[in-house]
Amino acid sequence: MSPTPPSSVRRVACIGAGVIGGGWVAHFLARGYDVTAWDPAPDAEDKLRRLVTAAWPALEQLGLAEGASADRLTMAPSLAEAVADAEFVQESAPEQLDLKRDLLARLDAAAPPGVVIASSTSGYPMSDMQTTAATPGRLVVGHPFNPPYLIPLVEVVGGERTDRAAVEWAAEFYGVAGKSVITMDRELPGFIANRLQEALWREALHMVANGEATVEDIDASITEGPGLRWAFMGPILTFALAGGEGGMAHMLDHFGPSLKSPWTRLEAPELDRALRDAMVDGCDRAADGRTYAQLVAERDQGVIDVLRATGRLDGPAR
Ligand SMILES: NC(=O)c1ccc[n+]([C@@H]2O[C@H](COP(=O)([O-])OP(=O)(O)OC[C@H]3O[C@@H](n4cnc5c(N)ncnc54)[C@H](O)[C@@H]3O)[C@@H](O)[C@H]2O)c1
Repeated sequence: MSPTPPSSVRRVACIGAGVIGGGWVAHFLARGYDVTAWDPAPDAEDKLRRLVTAAWPALEQLGLAEGASADRLTMAPSLAEAVADAEFVQESAPEQLDLKRDLLARLDAAAPPGVVIASSTSGYPMSDMQTTAATPGRLVVGHPFNPPYLIPLVEVVGGERTDRAAVEWAAEFYGVAGKSVITMDRELPGFIANRLQEALWREALHMVANGEATVEDIDASITEGPGLRWAFMGPILTFALAGGEGGMAHMLDHFGPSLKSPWTRLEAPELDRALRDAMVDGCDRAADGRTYAQLVAERDQGVIDVLRATGRLDGPAR
């Protein structure tokens, strides 16, 4: 597969430098890589540098790798120059299937032979995105979570035409680069975490649309409730504890019949203007005057505190 072993990679290209691409840039810089970014938007470089500057205090708290510096970011003038000497490519362009297909084919044509190219897609199967690439075997999904510089998880999965070796290479590389990796052996719409998040999201939108709960109520129901447990134990094992000493067996025997209750049989709600406005207004109320930059700083500190409290801050990985 890739000409460079995962632990020897030094140069990474990030294609698309918005919320997620910029987050990847910040992550790779903090881990000591040279990063070349490309994004066609005229204001992309300013935005990207602002994002990296805003993320850097959090990254310093996490512990920078030796030699890590925001100065090791280069903005390339073209896609071809961005990937010309890359040893790994992370694509984070907008979530549009045709755009991804075309972009991945162009990246495949421009990147050095064998270099693994990963897409940040939130849900498209790689099988649907790799259709026009000349060498689809090196295309994988590497699905991150926002912000990629703080949330450890990456879901890695290939498509029908992806080489197994590319999936293995990517999983190993992300591990070396300080991520927590789940490697999936089959494509699943939404992968694992987004499928779970979508279920919550659908229910939340329904409750707002029907006036059953406010945005603030819904957020508090998670941050003051199950969200506290999920940061360290996950939804299934914490449910096993809800079965007392009888564990999951008692939990299923006791609460299993309620699976048939109509709590969660909802189709996706109609995202009409009223619902859109209710969500936007609710978020404005919940932000309570805090700017985007303030909320990002608050979120970053919160994630770091949780990582520290649960013993998952062990300094630089490289
Ligand atoms: N936002 C999230 O929470 C999240 C989480 C995980 C994965 N993702 C995935 O990451 C990807 C990017 O999402 P985002 O939230 O960063 O979007 P975004 O809108 O913030 O950023 C997209 C960037 O891509 C650039 N772009 C537009 N056309 C392009 C092209 N042809 N080639 C390269 N770049 C192009 C835009 O200028 C923009 O800077 C999507 O596939 C999305 O599904 C998003």
